[in-house]
Amino acid sequence: MPALFSGPVADGADGGPLGVRRPPSCPGPISARSRAEGFSERFARIPSALIQKVNGVASEEGFVYIGGRIADTIGGALGGFAGTRDVLDFGCGLGRVAARLFDRAPDARIVGFDIDPMMLKWGEDLLAGQPVRFVDTTLDLPNRSFDLVIAVSVFTHLDATTDYWLAEIHRLLRPGGRAFLTYHDQTLFGEMALQGQLPGVASDGALADRYVLGRGTPEGGAAMGTFYTTEHWERLLDRWFVISATAERGMFGHQSYSVVRPRPVSPPRGELLRRYARSLERHLSDLRREHEIFY
Ligand SMILES: C[S@@+](CC[C@H](N)C(=O)[O-])C[C@H]1O[C@@H](n2cnc3c(N)ncnc32)[C@H](O)[C@@H]1O
Repeated sequence: MPALFSGPVADGADGGPLGVRRPPSCPGPISARSRAEGFSERFARIPSALIQKVNGVASEEGFVYIGGRIADTIGGALGGFAGTRDVLDFGCGLGRVAARLFDRAPDARIVGFDIDPMMLKWGEDLLAGQPVRFVDTTLDLPNRSFDLVIAVSVFTHLDATTDYWLAEIHRLLRPGGRAFLTYHDQTLFGEMALQGQLPGVASDGALADRYVLGRGTPEGGAAMGTFYTTEHWERLLDRWFVISATAERGMFGHQSYSVVRPRPVSPPRGELLRRYARSLERHLSDLRREHEIFY
């Protein structure tokens, strides 16, 4: 069986201390050729660094296998996909999970959102001809437009902007809609501490609320891994959502997940946006200082 995830924490190749890396060449607009080719031919074109970033292992077999197991875990957690039409794959990467949802949720129309333009380009190429639309911002997506939001292995890479994105998912869900959100819990933290994989943490160290390993960007980065105690994670969720279920290590013994429904609350959007912009600005100013970029 291929490894489920790899990388600095769990899933993804290290993009360097700042998550900055040379972008692999981009496939350009989707061509008629992409649509005519099979999945395997399109998969073979994707730079392996990108596949490793989302999947750990770069083989097509591993990508398909893990995507299928994740889709099954989501289906199991939701009690199936009946009635699920509009799905947002938040932090979709290359569409590893989306690609395995079509046969399980035949009525689904999927929007894949990611902040990484390379993921979007190659994901679009890979899933050419499928009912999935890739977008680089959620700002144009209308309020209450999704029945289901999935975020697999995304909040595991966020920190300063977590609250902003939770509120954004809340905005996008229809009343009665659901979100499936994964996180790294205290038990995974404990195992990694024991193995000496967490700098500055004693081998018997316990997690207090949250711990951020490595350093990514506030927007999220593979070079960063965030751990939450389930108690703290649920406190974060509780602001915007009613929690239907949380399963520690529920994704095949690795990541944990929660299934949530939106609460009838109005997030203070202006304040969240201000905090989000401040986090990004702080990060950009660090980058300018470290790289001695002067304007
Ligand atoms: C480990 S990959 C997982 C991709 C996909 N969910 C899957 O399971 O195959 C994490 C993805 O989240 C994306 N990401 C990180 N922060 C994000 C954010 N704030 N909004 C959207 N995507 C984000 C990254 O660009 C990357 O593609």
